[in-house]
Amino acid sequence: MALPSDHDDFFTPRCIWVNGPVIVGAGPSGLAVAACLKEQSVPFVILEKADCIATLWQRRTYDRLKLHLPKQFCQLPNYPFPEDYPEYPSKKQFIDYLESYAQHFDIKPRFNECVQSAKYDETCGLWCVKSCSIKGVERGVNSEVEYISQWLVVATGENAESVVPEIEGLNEFGGRVIHACDYKSGKDFKGKRVLVVGCGNSGMEVSLDLCNHNAFPFMVVRSSVHVLPREVFGKSTFRIATFLMKWLPLWLVDKLLLILTWLVLGNTERFGLRRPSMGPLHFKNTNGKTPVLDIGALQKIKTGGIQVVPGIKRFSHGRVELVDGNHLYFDSVILATGYRSNVPSWLQESDLFSNNGLPNQPFPNGWKGKSGLYAAGFTRKGLSGASLDATRIADDIGQVWKEETKLKKRFIACNGRFISQF
Ligand SMILES: Cc1cc2nc3c(=O)[nH]c(=O)nc-3n(C[C@H](O)[C@H](O)[C@H](O)COP(=O)(O)OP(=O)(O)OC[C@H]3O[C@@H](n4cnc5c(N)ncnc54)[C@H](O)[C@@H]3O)c2cc1C
Ligand SMILES: NC(=O)c1ccc[n+]([C@@H]2O[C@H](COP(=O)([O-])OP(=O)(O)OC[C@H]3O[C@@H](n4cnc5c(N)ncnc54)[C@H](OP(=O)(O)O)[C@@H]3O)[C@@H](O)[C@H]2O)c1
Repeated sequence: MALPSDHDDFFTPRCIWVNGPVIVGAGPSGLAVAACLKEQSVPFVILEKADCIATLWQRRTYDRLKLHLPKQFCQLPNYPFPEDYPEYPSKKQFIDYLESYAQHFDIKPRFNECVQSAKYDETCGLWCVKSCSIKGVERGVNSEVEYISQWLVVATGENAESVVPEIEGLNEFGGRVIHACDYKSGKDFKGKRVLVVGCGNSGMEVSLDLCNHNAFPFMVVRSSVHVLPREVFGKSTFRIATFLMKWLPLWLVDKLLLILTWLVLGNTERFGLRRPSMGPLHFKNTNGKTPVLDIGALQKIKTGGIQVVPGIKRFSHGRVELVDGNHLYFDSVILATGYRSNVPSWLQESDLFSNNGLPNQPFPNGWKGKSGLYAAGFTRKGLSGASLDATRIADDIGQVWKEETKLKKRFIACNGRFISQF
């Protein structure tokens, strides 16, 4: 392996041949692919725009976050969670696990490298991945680097950018307006009236946290939502669903889940939480919307600690007008309005990925494209989906790698420099 020194950076051409795949993103998916490639003895380069691994978890999530699914469904390939971890590890425990995962497999991402574009060159049959080195920009040197490789693994995540909806008058509101990705704890909102826009897992949990910190949360629920208990009679709802899916058709599992949910939570429609006409698993498969796994917000809704309000018509100074004509006053607004993929902003390709930055093909077929392109972590199946992708991708690349290395000794030449991690 030959890594360029700072001195080289200034003078040499910014084109680097990568021996093995380029992985974009060092979140759980990118790390899992890297670890599985290591097991296959395939070298790689992993590019990460931030200065640490798993930025979503380290920088863009709230303090009280825990994994919603039991740990066995969240661990990455070939490295289990520590035995003393609880059933639902905390955010800190998960980050610690990811750090030790990277250390265990000796994964060293190239940090501060933000990929700006990636394009397949038909003539030479290679991917050209252009990144901007943030450190280079700071030092005032040419900060563009071009990585050339045979394979490209997209692991930038389904939640790469926050969605900030355009709502009439929001600019005039005047109070504090943040996205859920910048929310850390309800202690900053004690005694305040806070409008939480959105009732996904983030909206529900932020509302619960605000309530626990003696703020006054109002949660906007503009359409239908499936709220399920995280556990049914002490057993994880997800685990139950996964078990039932082995034996029963999806429609029947959905029916059983709704019956169990009704037994535990009662009729949620009474509290303004209308259910979609499709069952939770069918709804997720069709619309990509994850059911909310309740960890206490519903109880707060029942007792009035969290108020449910309908959609927003417009904002004005310190105030919101709702679609039912009511006017309410607020100190702050938290937009728990979701996330989107950033793939369309940098990947010049339209076969594997669609305009919304997610694969065209539904699970389990969206992990592999043409010409050595792969997608890791875009299954809408969270961490377990990412692990499955990683194993498949590494097996696929590993097979070609082994065939090729058998045929020829690899001579690497591109402006005199090559890198890869091994
Ligand atoms: C609040 C919240 C809680 C969640 N909780 C769970 C949970 O409990 N269980 C679960 O299974 N899933 C959960 N998820 C889903 C979550 O997306 C996954 O757990 C996991 O983070 C996905 O990993 P990833 O590597 O695919 O994406 P990410 O974790 O988003 O990592 C992508 C990485 O790519 C980097 N990157 C992005 N663009 C570029 C670029 N152009 N150049 C270079 N690097 C780039 C980013 O900086 C980031 O480090 C949660 C999501 C959110 C928002
Ligand atoms: N611990 C955990 O496991 C955990 C915690 C938090 C998040 N997550 C995961 O992270 C991902 C993102 O979750 P999320 O809750 O941030 O996003 P989300 O599931 O996409 O939910 C976004 C919410 O915002 C609403 N919304 C969007 N624009 C709106 C507008 N203009 N007015 C009113 N409401 C609006 C949506 O309503 P509509 O449905 O009407 O569009 C929806 O309720 C999910 O996969 C989730 O499971 C997991």
